[in-house]
Amino acid sequence: MIGRYGQLCTVAYGAGAINSTGETAKELGFKKVMIVTDKQVEALGHSQKAIDSLKKANIETVIFNGVEMDAPDYTVEAGGNMAKKEQVDGIIGIGGGSVLDTAKGIACFAANEISISDMIHHAPMKNPPVRFVLIPTTPGTGSESTFVAVITDTKKHEKVGCFAVPSFSILDPELTLSLPKEITAYTGMDAFSHCIESLTSMQPNPHSDLLAYDAIERSVKWLPVAYKDPNNYEARDNLALASNFAGKSFNDSTVHVGHAIAHSFGAHFHIPHGIGCALVTPVVIELTASKFPEKIKKVGKIMDIEINSEDPVVIGKTVADGLRKFMKSIEVPSCKELGITREEILNCTDYVRNEPLRNFGGVAVTDEMIPELLAKIYDTYQ
Ligand SMILES: [Fe+2]
Repeated sequence: MIGRYGQLCTVAYGAGAINSTGETAKELGFKKVMIVTDKQVEALGHSQKAIDSLKKANIETVIFNGVEMDAPDYTVEAGGNMAKKEQVDGIIGIGGGSVLDTAKGIACFAANEISISDMIHHAPMKNPPVRFVLIPTTPGTGSESTFVAVITDTKKHEKVGCFAVPSFSILDPELTLSLPKEITAYTGMDAFSHCIESLTSMQPNPHSDLLAYDAIERSVKWLPVAYKDPNNYEARDNLALASNFAGKSFNDSTVHVGHAIAHSFGAHFHIPHGIGCALVTPVVIELTASKFPEKIKKVGKIMDIEINSEDPVVIGKTVADGLRKFMKSIEVPSCKELGITREEILNCTDYVRNEPLRNFGGVAVTDEMIPELLAKIYDTYQ
């Protein structure tokens, strides 16, 4: 069998990297760019740094600051129409996961005559996206190094999306120094879940595995440090890399049933994506240990969890319990603490059944297994 692995786009990395935005845009030949961001990122002054750098490089800018949580379709449409009207030749997304996904959607919409509904439901697009650069301000989604944009269909209450490859990414850990501790925990657990699902998908490869193990190591060492001390640069630096490597890893492999379930939680309960990912990941570990006992054992070793068995079931349970303990240390709330009942969790069954990602794991998930997995999430993390 012939495998495949790849890289997505070049990443400029380091403290103050955002100040090189103008230089990058010049290299890409941009003349007029649209900054895609939200009001919080603007208030923190992050987008202004990019604008100043673009001005120095004599590149004209227009600003779209209307991004909302979970990248709703109507914001992609509004931003895309603005990009068309302003005739920009480049797009720069600066912000968290929703901003980066919205920027990807805008880049596709601006380059095509297509309805927003057709676009996010994967109708063929005639033209490639307007070229775009992504600058994350939260370490979690790794969206700056993936070709996937998750966009919300607000009429059907579904997470769907489109595909677009960034031309370049700028990873500046300094931008994450101001993040509150709970966002640090949730976004960090999103990255962690990307690693576990990438390792246990139907198509991992040596390259995606390598990136996932490294990202897990950085996450378990530095997430508790950043959680306690948000201004610790070394921790932020390592978590920015962990998020980026985890994104590269699942971009080269895939996420699967964990994200199908996390998406159902987002749609039903409107909780942050990272919390949904955290809640489901121990269950994904238990599920996939039967097929990947050596990989789960290695994850346990990286997490310093003692495993005294060769039995895949015991390996899975031991590592999952170790992760639950880790989640408690960074105060990830349980379903109950979030006000979600066991019955409400089970009501996600149909959503998960219809979520294509559920089929992408290395272990097949039957229809009957879905309510069992959902109940286990509630019962095993209180
Ligand atoms: Fe995710």
